[in-house]
Amino acid sequence: MIVPCESNVRLGVNLDHVMTIRQARGTVYPDFEQAIVAAERAGADGITMHLREDRRHIQDEDVYLARRIMRTSMNLEMAATDEMRDIALEVRPQNCCIVPEKRMELTTERGLDVITHQARIRDLVSALSEADIAVSLFIEPDAKMVDAAARTGAPVIELHTGVYADAAGNSQENELNRIRAAAGHAASLGLVVNAGHGLHCGNVLEIARIENMHELNIGHSIVADALFVGLEEAIRRMKTAMREGS
Ligand code: PXP
Repeated sequence: MIVPCESNVRLGVNLDHVMTIRQARGTVYPDFEQAIVAAERAGADGITMHLREDRRHIQDEDVYLARRIMRTSMNLEMAATDEMRDIALEVRPQNCCIVPEKRMELTTERGLDVITHQARIRDLVSALSEADIAVSLFIEPDAKMVDAAARTGAPVIELHTGVYADAAGNSQENELNRIRAAAGHAASLGLVVNAGHGLHCGNVLEIARIENMHELNIGHSIVADALFVGLEEAIRRMKTAMREGS
C-alpha cells in the first residue's frame, strides 16, 4: 500500500516545452503569458524556465515578460556563464538554478560538477546572492557534491532525479536511497533541498515523500499530459500525485 505524503512539497512547473512547440515553427503561439497564467491558476507554486545558450525554447523576451506578469516565484535555470549572470542580474528572478549545459544534449543530462568548477561557481553564487536571488545548484545525489555545493555559499540544491526516473526495480530503489541520503546530508548542512528531472505522475510520490524535500521542478511529463487533459488539469493531477501517487 502506498502511504500518502503528508507534507506540502512545492511544485515548480517548467514551461520550456510549451515554448518548444512555438520555436519548432517560429509561430507566435502557444502564448507564453497564457501558459503562465494557466499554470498559476492551476496551483503551480512557481514557474521554472531554462534560458539555454542556444535559445532552443525560452527566449530572452519570455524571461522579461515572465518577470513582469508572474504572481508566483520565478526560477530561472541557466548555465554558469557571464552572459547568463548578466541577464539574471537584470531580470532579478526570486530563484536561479545553475545547471551544466552541453549544446548537443537533448535535455540537462547530469548534475553540475561543483568540485571541478568550485571557484567559478562560488563567484557566480556570490554575485547573484548580492542581488537577493536565491541560488540553487543542480547536482547529482552524492555527499561529496553536496559538500562542495555548501562550500560555494549557495543556499539551495536541486538533486538530479534523472537516473532514478530512468531506472527500474532494484537499481531504482538504490538510486532513491542515494537521493534520500543526499537530501538528509544537505539538510543537516542547512541547505534547502529541491529535486527534479524525469518526474511524472507514476514516479513522483517517492521523491515527494523524502524528508526535507522543499520543491520539485517538473516540466516534460506535465506538458505531455497537457496534450490530452489540458495544462491546468495536468498540473492539478501532478499536485495530487505528489500527495497520493497516481
Ligand atoms: N530541473 C532541472 C535543473 C532541469 O534542467 C529540468 C529540465 O529542464 C527539470 C528540472 C525538469 O525536468 P523534466 O522536464 O524532465 O520534468
